[in-house]
Amino acid sequence: MKIRPIFWQDDAVMILDQRLLPWKIKYLKCTKVNQVARAIKNMAIRGAPAIGIAAAMGIALGVRNLKNKRDIEKRFVKTLTCIAKSRPTARNLFWAIERMRQVFEKNKGKNLSDLKLVMIKESQKILNEDIETNQKIGYYGKSLISSGMKILTHCNAGALATGGYGTALGVIRAAWEEGKRFEVFADETRPYLQGARLTAWELKEEGIPTTVITDNTAGYLMQRGEIDLVIVGADRIAANGDTANKIGTYTLAVLAKRHRIPFYIAAPLSTFDLSLKTGREIPIEVRSGNEVIKIGKKHICPEGVKALYYAFDVTPAELITGIITERGILKSPFDKVIASLEKEA
Ligand code: MRU
Repeated sequence: MKIRPIFWQDDAVMILDQRLLPWKIKYLKCTKVNQVARAIKNMAIRGAPAIGIAAAMGIALGVRNLKNKRDIEKRFVKTLTCIAKSRPTARNLFWAIERMRQVFEKNKGKNLSDLKLVMIKESQKILNEDIETNQKIGYYGKSLISSGMKILTHCNAGALATGGYGTALGVIRAAWEEGKRFEVFADETRPYLQGARLTAWELKEEGIPTTVITDNTAGYLMQRGEIDLVIVGADRIAANGDTANKIGTYTLAVLAKRHRIPFYIAAPLSTFDLSLKTGREIPIEVRSGNEVIKIGKKHICPEGVKALYYAFDVTPAELITGIITERGILKSPFDKVIASLEKEA
């Protein structure tokens, strides 16, 4: 099955509501920029590259809804601000905002209907490029996988989190498509259960043998020699290679180091933020504790108990074996090689 997390249909942006998966396939029809911003904030669409695509399409919707060019620049800034406020950590969101801003600047002199067309086309281009980028990440990353391996992943860095192929799961998918046969362990990823609901669903659709584990099982599996490789995605990578990803990723990296298991990040260049020297500068989203004290609609804590929910953590570069990108696999020390990527771009 081809997974399409987001696409244009007629004059609307269609967003697959990931909060309902795997039980229900339902698309949200967004015709206004604030509907897209809400879908990002409320996790209907999530995963750094998918958030970036949604941001671009939301901005294009904002321009598409303009009736005239009066105060157009002011109104465009309002549209960008609406999207920028939705979630803070995924670099791809701000990357997409900047790309759409540049296209707007270049074309704002055009008549309004041509400008609208250019903005919509650019957002579609971002979607198509993301799928191609993921396929390249898969191409480079699949060399790390051999038949018989047991691979651990965290959260969901699959088709759902991107334009439609996946970063960490793109690598797994590419190796599977090549005929390699292996097994995947998916951390359930509390509290949103992206691993249990989304990763398990995607991999099951592909026919890839997958076992869901609770987040606290990974260490014991590694100690028993039952994990050969860890591959996860990323939300933002600083210039020195420090990487923000779903909360719990840092724990896995420490465990992997302890057990001498290779630990890889898979991410497109749009996730790198070279303006940040280290991971300490990455803004980490803090979501409501209410999302922790419930599983679905059911409360699991005594009433009045406080809960804390950092949505991401930062894995120091020294714990990362390599970063799989569309330009190949980057190896430590990352700072020089990451700086050279910028020069080549
Ligand atoms: O809170 P989420 O579901 O948006 O977090 C997603 C992740 O942490 C992913 O691993 C990351 O965005 C990479 S997706 C290719």
